[in-house]
Amino acid sequence: MTMLIDIIAGARPNFIKIAPIIAEIKKVKSLSYRLIHTGQHYDHKMSGSFFNDLDIPEPDVNLGVKSGTQAEQTGKIMIEYEKCIFEKRPDICLVVGDVNSTMAASLAAKKMGIKVAHVEAGIRSGDLSMPEEINRIVTDSISDYFFTTTKEASNNLIKSGIKKDNVFFVGNTMIDTLKMNLSKLRPPKLYDELNLCKQNYFVTTLHRPSNVDNVNNLAGILHQMDIASNGNKIIFPLHPRTRIILEKGKLNYDNIIYTEPLSYLEFIFLVKNSQLVITDSGGISEETTYLGIPCITLRDTTERPETCKIGTNVLVGNDLNLLHELFQLASLKQWKIGGVPKFWDGKTSSRIIKSLTKLSY
Ligand code: UD1
Repeated sequence: MTMLIDIIAGARPNFIKIAPIIAEIKKVKSLSYRLIHTGQHYDHKMSGSFFNDLDIPEPDVNLGVKSGTQAEQTGKIMIEYEKCIFEKRPDICLVVGDVNSTMAASLAAKKMGIKVAHVEAGIRSGDLSMPEEINRIVTDSISDYFFTTTKEASNNLIKSGIKKDNVFFVGNTMIDTLKMNLSKLRPPKLYDELNLCKQNYFVTTLHRPSNVDNVNNLAGILHQMDIASNGNKIIFPLHPRTRIILEKGKLNYDNIIYTEPLSYLEFIFLVKNSQLVITDSGGISEETTYLGIPCITLRDTTERPETCKIGTNVLVGNDLNLLHELFQLASLKQWKIGGVPKFWDGKTSSRIIKSLTKLSY
């Protein structure tokens, strides 16, 4: 009998995590899948370009939910995904990460009696003001199978009462994608246009409400980065949420270059050749850890402590003076030397699929 797995993806980081899982599923005769795109991210630059770059097959279903408040988005995904389940029942619903699509689809599936597998389970920031932390806690509280990126994440789950047998420490699927694509990276157009070359520029991404929703706060961060860059360019691919706020506030700086969201292969090219990355994304701090590129995270907490303990990441919260010092450390090449966490080796998806095929469901 073939096991049917619904794979749920909705937002940019999800696409990066599912690509290698689908590639592995395709190799196994006893598994079939249905790719469900919730439509949470819908612009070509936030969604379609990732399908092209990462060879992800066309979704079987697009729920088309687009934007809305937290509750609207969650509710719409639940309603639309439930209809899909009524049409055809999967054996397992596989969700990745911590976005609204992750939580909403897992709730809809579980309430229909379908087993839920969560990839990137067990990570915690302890900061309940972030929707992602709520999504992690809710998803893990109803999931049946847990695939973790670190031992620490596995321990978080086991401490919360989850049966050890259902927790699988497999590593990080984002790193599978990264390794698989390292030979395909390409420079974005602006690389030549701006005369960028290895390590003579910085990359930043900011989209968390705590950094960007208050225009004065955002202006303070960008002003400090502009000064700290010491005349070197800071490339800033803009998330749609951030673009709106920058445009409203008419915020412009000599050394900060705004650009559209970049495709995966272009973005990783930029990161890999940069001197330093400044971000509030969790996923990017994992990629810089793997690549050994210095990374500053503009948050007080992280659900990925290994990127600081083992990797190249440093949390600065909103200490903008520290930001200045760290730019200097990076330019003097005195950044701490990082390592790569266990099982971040490009084989995580194959471990996940091996475990899934052994399940009795
Ligand atoms: C979501 C995730 C976040 C992840 C981020 C990566 C949740 C709670 N948050 O945040 O964890 O780090 O994706 O990008 O799920 N928009 C567009 N075009 C698009 C997509 C979004 O213009 O293709 C606009 C929306 O209309 C909205 C804003 O961007 O105004 C934010 O989108 P939303 O899906 O609400 O969450 P993100 O901030 O992207």
